[in-house]
Amino acid sequence: MDILEIIAKKRDKKELDKEEITFFVNEYTSGKIPDYQAASLIMAIYLNGMTKEETTNLTLAMANSGDILDLSKIASTVVDKHSTGGVGDKVSLILLPLIASLEIPVAKMSGRGLGFTGGTVDKLKSIPGYETEISEEKFIENIQKIGISMISQTLNLAPADKKLYALRDSTATVESIPLIASSIMSKKIASGANKIVLDVTVGKGAFMKNIEQAEKLAKEMIEIGKLANRETVCVLTNMDEPLGYAVGNNLEVKEAIEFLKGNMPEDLKEVVFELGAYMMKLAGKGEDINNNKQLLLENIVNYKAYNKFLELVNNQNGDISYIENPEKFENVKYIEPVYAEKSGSIEEIDAKKIGELACFLGAGRLKKEDEIDDTVGIVLNKKVGDVVEKNEVLAYIHANDNIKLRNVLDELKRVIKISDKSVNKNRVVFSVILNCMKT
Ligand code: URA
Repeated sequence: MDILEIIAKKRDKKELDKEEITFFVNEYTSGKIPDYQAASLIMAIYLNGMTKEETTNLTLAMANSGDILDLSKIASTVVDKHSTGGVGDKVSLILLPLIASLEIPVAKMSGRGLGFTGGTVDKLKSIPGYETEISEEKFIENIQKIGISMISQTLNLAPADKKLYALRDSTATVESIPLIASSIMSKKIASGANKIVLDVTVGKGAFMKNIEQAEKLAKEMIEIGKLANRETVCVLTNMDEPLGYAVGNNLEVKEAIEFLKGNMPEDLKEVVFELGAYMMKLAGKGEDINNNKQLLLENIVNYKAYNKFLELVNNQNGDISYIENPEKFENVKYIEPVYAEKSGSIEEIDAKKIGELACFLGAGRLKKEDEIDDTVGIVLNKKVGDVVEKNEVLAYIHANDNIKLRNVLDELKRVIKISDKSVNKNRVVFSVILNCMKT
């Protein structure tokens, strides 16, 4: 088989067969196909799309590119959660300890930041000592011991996705339904959970810009889940403005700690509880979604979820004194307020632009080999729909570089838009798709 022929076929909008897709995935993973040829095939897929069959074959080839964990010895039901990406999305840091605190085993393999979106692995790594790279045995042992482990994609799980993920990040080929669906579902299949809840984000700070695209992505992932015997539920959530208030690694960890202590921003709370209630349902812990939400709230109020987070961090060698005293997180050189230039209501806070500004400050990567600065980012003081007075603080910029800080200050004044009219709060959860049926 010849990679040039495969590239040419996709370039010419023809359908690839299973053997061709498997050949590409295996040869690229083993290093026999170079990045430049893989990039050109990925761009052809990005431009010309894939049929459902091609997407399924790509997913299964990626899942089979490494080991597939068998978690049946841990429990008959292990749930997992994944997001299609967002800005200020610290949901996994909160939701997964919360779910584990309800005695539901959690096996989570997370990704690093992609494009302007943040990654859970980068957030976990920003906790001093926290090891995201552990062996398969240790991963399983941790789940058996404390009911939860959260790691990065370092095990031999879906190695094809690991390579393709980094390649897509540096070739402007992230926003593609077949590429996102196969990336997410290959990881989920490989990491062994048999029930999956997916947060499919929609809006300016998401890869899916409208509900129609998001529904299409959701349905493809549910179909792949069915074929792989993984029951999958998708929750469509709003990502027009950042989720919660903080954007940046340490800043988001701090917001997650606050949430686990009961200080819950409304939009973040809605997303966490909706996803959590469906995770409970899939785990057989309750059919009634509202009742499940109540049980989730109880484990926030009684600190069981917070304590589970401490246990998780401790068990993965993280320094829990940072969780117990979040002010210990290294401070930045500059914390600069951004003031409102007029009174009114907040009309728009473009999540993509906020994500890009946070990356520019150093919170994310502009190139795949860039080092992240854990301390920098943006903390909003207002959300869409809030009333603001002239000279009130709209946001705080956390920076280590004065020139970057000045640039971001100017930009933020444009990105946070104020209207003279009153503005409604953004809707947070749009719909839930179960078995391709919308609720
Ligand atoms: N998350 C992933 O794991 N992969 C994508 O392609 C997008 C979001």
